Amino acid sequence: MAITDYFNKDLLKDKVAFITGGGSGINLGIGKSFAALGADIAICGRTQEKLDGAAEELKALGARVYTHACDVREYDNLAEGIQGCEQALGPIDILVCGAAGNFPAPAEALSPNGFRSVMDIDLLGSFHACHAAVDQLKKTKGCIIFISAGQAYQPYALQCHVGAAKAGIDNLMQNLALEWGAHGIRANSIAPGPIDDTEGMKRLAPGDTKAKIEKVVPLGRFGTVDEIGQAAAFLASPLAQYVTGTLLVVDGGMGLPGSGVFTNVLMQELH
Ligand code: COA
Repeated sequence: MAITDYFNKDLLKDKVAFITGGGSGINLGIGKSFAALGADIAICGRTQEKLDGAAEELKALGARVYTHACDVREYDNLAEGIQGCEQALGPIDILVCGAAGNFPAPAEALSPNGFRSVMDIDLLGSFHACHAAVDQLKKTKGCIIFISAGQAYQPYALQCHVGAAKAGIDNLMQNLALEWGAHGIRANSIAPGPIDDTEGMKRLAPGDTKAKIEKVVPLGRFGTVDEIGQAAAFLASPLAQYVTGTLLVVDGGMGLPGSGVFTNVLMQELH
C-alpha cells in the first residue's frame, strides 16, 4: 500500500520540508512520504553524491528538491543550507532533525571523542538545525520532528553515547515545544524501533541477529521506512495540529519488555 492509499495526496501540498540526514534510510523514507503527499523537499547530508541519488528519487515523486552538502556539527554551513532552502523552495514548514551517528561500543572502551561525536551529530546537530530554522518556522507556524530512539528512555548495552544523545533530543524537543508554542510552532519526536534496510540496523543487528530480535518484537517483525514516513506525515499534517511536546514510539512494541533481549544479542554478538 502507498501512503496515498491512506492520506489525501494533497495533504502536504505547498509545504516545504527540510530534512537533515535526508540522503538515506529513515530520513529519506520520510522525505519520500512527504513528497508523495505534495511537499517540496530539502535534504542535507555529508555526501553530495548520496544527496544527488536521493534527489532523483524525490523528484520522481513530483517534489521540487533542494540539496545542500554539510555536516550538521558545523553551524554556519548548515545555516547556509537552511537559508538556501528558503530561497530555492520557500520558508520551511516542516523541519526533520534526523541526522544521526551510531555504532555499538562498551562505555569503558568508548573514547571521549567517540562519545562526543555522537552527541555532536545527534543532539548539537538537532539544536543547530532548529536554531537556524526558527525564523522560517515562525513565518509558517511550522513544526519540528526529531528522530529519537528507544535508547532515550531505556538503557541498552553498548549504547551509552546514543542513549545520552537521544534523551537530550527528547528533552530539547519538549523545551522547544514549550517555548515556541507561542509562535505556533509544534515540536514532537518519533522513536523508531528496529527498521529494515537502515544503516542503524546494519550496525546493531547484523546477520542472523535480526531473526533473534524479531522474535521479541510483539508485532513479530522489523518495521519499514514507509511506516516511519506515515507517522511523520501524521505529525507534520493538520491531523496533529494540537499535538506538541510528545514522543511517538513506532517500534512494533519492541520496548515493552525492556531492552533485555536486544541487549543480550548486542553483548553476545558485538562485544
Ligand atoms: N567503536 C568505538 N569508537 C568508534 C567507533 C566504533 N565502532 N567508530 C568511531 N569511533 C570513534 C573513533 O575512534 C573516534 O574517536 P577517537 O578520535 O578517540 O579515536 C570518534 O569515534 C570519531 O570517529 P570518526 O570516524 O572520526 O567520526 P566521524 O565524525 O567521521 O563519524 C561516527 C561519526 C563515528 C558516528 C560514524 O559512525 C558515522 O559517520 N556514522 C554515520 C552513519 C550512522 O551512524 N548511521 C546510523 C544512524 S542510526
